Amino acid sequence: MTHVSAHRVAGKKAFITGAAGGLGAAMARLLARHGAKLFLTDIDEAAVYEVAKAINAEHGDTVAWSAAQNVRDEDRWQSALAEANGVLGGISVLVNNAGIGAIGGVESLQPKEWQRVMGVNLDAVYLGCKYALPLLRQHQPGSIINISSMAAFKVDPDYTVYNASKAAVASLSKSVALDCARQKMDVRCNSIHPSFIRTGIVEPFFEQLGEEEALKKLTRGVPLRRLGDVDDVAYAVLYLASDESRYITAAEFRIDGGASAV
Ligand SMILES: NC(=O)c1ccc[n+]([C@@H]2O[C@H](COP(=O)([O-])OP(=O)(O)OC[C@H]3O[C@@H](n4cnc5c(N)ncnc54)[C@H](O)[C@@H]3O)[C@@H](O)[C@H]2O)c1
Repeated sequence: MTHVSAHRVAGKKAFITGAAGGLGAAMARLLARHGAKLFLTDIDEAAVYEVAKAINAEHGDTVAWSAAQNVRDEDRWQSALAEANGVLGGISVLVNNAGIGAIGGVESLQPKEWQRVMGVNLDAVYLGCKYALPLLRQHQPGSIINISSMAAFKVDPDYTVYNASKAAVASLSKSVALDCARQKMDVRCNSIHPSFIRTGIVEPFFEQLGEEEALKKLTRGVPLRRLGDVDDVAYAVLYLASDESRYITAAEFRIDGGASAV
């Protein structure tokens, strides 16, 4: 194994969804700092373009590319991956990060809302894995990192579909990992399970409850007694994208200040 210091993912070519802000943008910045090339996508084309532009301003303009992608669109998965494969000269890392939330108990949740959240949080992860694997196979060693949530393990009856989608992502990640292993493919697949981190997805809590109450609610049950930071997740992605984690597959990484232990 070659040991790298600052450039822990030098030579890696990473495709990241939902990279216009929040966790996705943070992991993109960190991977770029550690030598990876990036293809960043999001449904918000203008914002993901700005993320790539800022990375290129820091590291040189052949580090990050951006493109519009609705992860619910199967055809777009295929064309976006082909585009990335072309400009990056291969793909070695896929981060399925795009995700959305929805509030509703079993009876109040509308079927359309169920399908919308499942479409982004689960179906898209399946599509991403399915269409990226042939490319990852050509560019081993590879790593698939699926951003699930602590919600996969800790259920809140107001977040029915979010919980179900994230639990399914954990299971799907293991299927992908075992499928690659039985084919003797050097492509690993793991899921990451963050607790609350202040990004767009948790902003509604702050709008509804105000700063103090929201912080109290979101850190209740977190032994480390604070919200996570986007870089807390980005460092886990950096590790899983690098060859440092070459013996880790089908694992669930809990980035939750100890929350899932209590
Ligand atoms: N922030 C948290 O507390 C937290 C905790 C656990 C898990 N997560 C997960 O982390 C991931 C990133 O979320 P975040 O916290 O950075 O939130 P965010 O809202 O800042 O980022 C999500 C990104 O996904 C994009 N997106 C939404 N729908 C899309 C679609 N159909 N196609 C393509 N892109 C789409 C959005 O435009 C946005 O840029 C999500 O999967 C989320 O469920 C977040």
